[in-house]
Amino acid sequence: MTSSKPRVLATRHFPPDVEARLAASFDAKLNPEDKLYDGPALAKASEGFAGIMCAAGDPLNADTIARLPASVKMIATFSVGYEHVDVAAAAKRGIIVSNTPDVLTDATADIALLCLLGAARRAHEGTTMLRTHNWVGWEPTQLMGTHVTGKRLGILGMGRIGQAVADRARAFRMTIHYSNRSRLPADLEKGATFHANPDDMLPHCDFLSINAPMTAATRKWVNAERIGKLPKGAIVVNTARGGVVDDEALIAALKSGRLAAAGIDVFDGEPKIHQGYYDLVNAFLLPHMGSATVETRNAMGFKALDNLEAFLLSGKTPPDLVKAS
Ligand code: DGY
Repeated sequence: MTSSKPRVLATRHFPPDVEARLAASFDAKLNPEDKLYDGPALAKASEGFAGIMCAAGDPLNADTIARLPASVKMIATFSVGYEHVDVAAAAKRGIIVSNTPDVLTDATADIALLCLLGAARRAHEGTTMLRTHNWVGWEPTQLMGTHVTGKRLGILGMGRIGQAVADRARAFRMTIHYSNRSRLPADLEKGATFHANPDDMLPHCDFLSINAPMTAATRKWVNAERIGKLPKGAIVVNTARGGVVDDEALIAALKSGRLAAAGIDVFDGEPKIHQGYYDLVNAFLLPHMGSATVETRNAMGFKALDNLEAFLLSGKTPPDLVKAS
């Protein structure tokens, strides 16, 4: 029997409660094996579907969008970042795009602090020493890291997540510097120092946290020249997008000791990350898990569904419409 509900294709296996609502609201095709689609396969699989619920890393570039069947009217990404969707190409084809802002702010800011502390306090070396049975016991000079309390934290990108990172860092009595497209009002700035030019912020960063989206302007923004402007022994934290960092430059600075450490949750080309990271004991590395809590992943899924339901069931503008810049 054919269903009268709009058809939605799920490109990934989403959390069970999210898939249950997806299947209740729509005539949904799920992906229980979480098989990854390449662009042509995704375009082919979308035949007859009005909506695509996708996720970070899905290849919804201009080429795939050009191949999508005319049935596709909306792409709802289960992510706040949407650099994997060519929004301008979608707009040209009359396909609307939505994302999931707000709901992953706290979880991602938590992971930024985990990365910051993990890098500063040599967590990778400590856990490795313990788990490889090489811990000989407490020693006065063992695994001495970088003190966090009272240090300066520079935040590149002071949107929701950047602000949540700042709030957490204030609990460590860190002094906050930030750079953002526009200066925040005083109630959101909370005494942080604004740098209109992000390069001017770098000499003030004992720690640099990347919280800016991946755009043409931020691609490989953290390069050798900018690393050279950071104080010697600074620590770089990236929980935004791997492409904002020039891996070669960061790895060289971590090897030479120009930077003391890095805490990284996101990588250019992930999951095939630059091989150089694997050999660095001063890199605290996580596999893109900023939003990975049950509560957050459910909230992301429900937000993606709010958007799909608004447009495909009620004919309304989705609350989290993404506009081509
Ligand atoms: C996002 O939503 O952009 C995250 O990176 C996925 O966790």
